[in-house]
Amino acid sequence: MSSIDVPLTKRGFGVTSRKDNWWVEPLVVFLGYMSFVVYATWAGMAGNNYLYTGGGADYLSPMYSPLLTETAPSWWPAFLPFSAAMLILPFPGGFRFTCYYYRGAYYKAFWADPISCSVGEPRNAYRGEKKFPLVFQNIHRYFLYFAIIFVFILLYDGYRALWFTGADGQKHFGIGVGSLVLILNPILLGMYTFGCHSFRHLIGGIKDVISASPARKAAYDCVSCLNRNHMKWAWISMFFVGFADLYVRMCAMGVWTDWRIL
Ligand code: FES
Repeated sequence: MSSIDVPLTKRGFGVTSRKDNWWVEPLVVFLGYMSFVVYATWAGMAGNNYLYTGGGADYLSPMYSPLLTETAPSWWPAFLPFSAAMLILPFPGGFRFTCYYYRGAYYKAFWADPISCSVGEPRNAYRGEKKFPLVFQNIHRYFLYFAIIFVFILLYDGYRALWFTGADGQKHFGIGVGSLVLILNPILLGMYTFGCHSFRHLIGGIKDVISASPARKAAYDCVSCLNRNHMKWAWISMFFVGFADLYVRMCAMGVWTDWRIL
């Protein structure tokens, strides 16, 4: 295949002849991500109010699931305050950080490189994702395997949220608003995770003639459908994880009441 090298015009950072409000999108993305990152960092380090057991409920914040230990393991560095979420968050955090959609968004919104199409950049050289440090973005496919496991763990948490301990000490089926929140959360995460570009490759993109495998073709079409809205699911699932943590936290603190529907 022939190729043409298009020389980049050097111009000062932010210089452009565009007349539209090109800066609005990176600014909104920056504010949206920052608000989540600040909340998730605070909630992850808080180390409390991640479990609500009032009224016999069993609600666990998704930021602390699976709850591996509530005390610092022996190898934990003494200078670092411990929170159970710190054992969990690197996996979903790494998955999102290396996601193809997020990369495109935060390269623009945080690194301004490129900040927008046809707008001057702060750097003149582009080393690409084949060289250090961005070569590490290629680890995304491995984070995907963990992300899939997390979807099922959180689904199990949603199932547990449907069982309430009664006065007899036995578990009884019930539905609280928190049950719905903790069930909806992994569903939204699944919409994001199973629309992943790496998953799409695994499920069918790897095949030369996918139409020869009807079942695989159907799965591929399904993943492609989610993939077309990957950006939308990325945003919705990100904020809903934050909301699910907030819901459990507020109930555990006695600020919000968990209404029982059934
Ligand atoms: S490309 Fe976004 S999760 Fe994989």
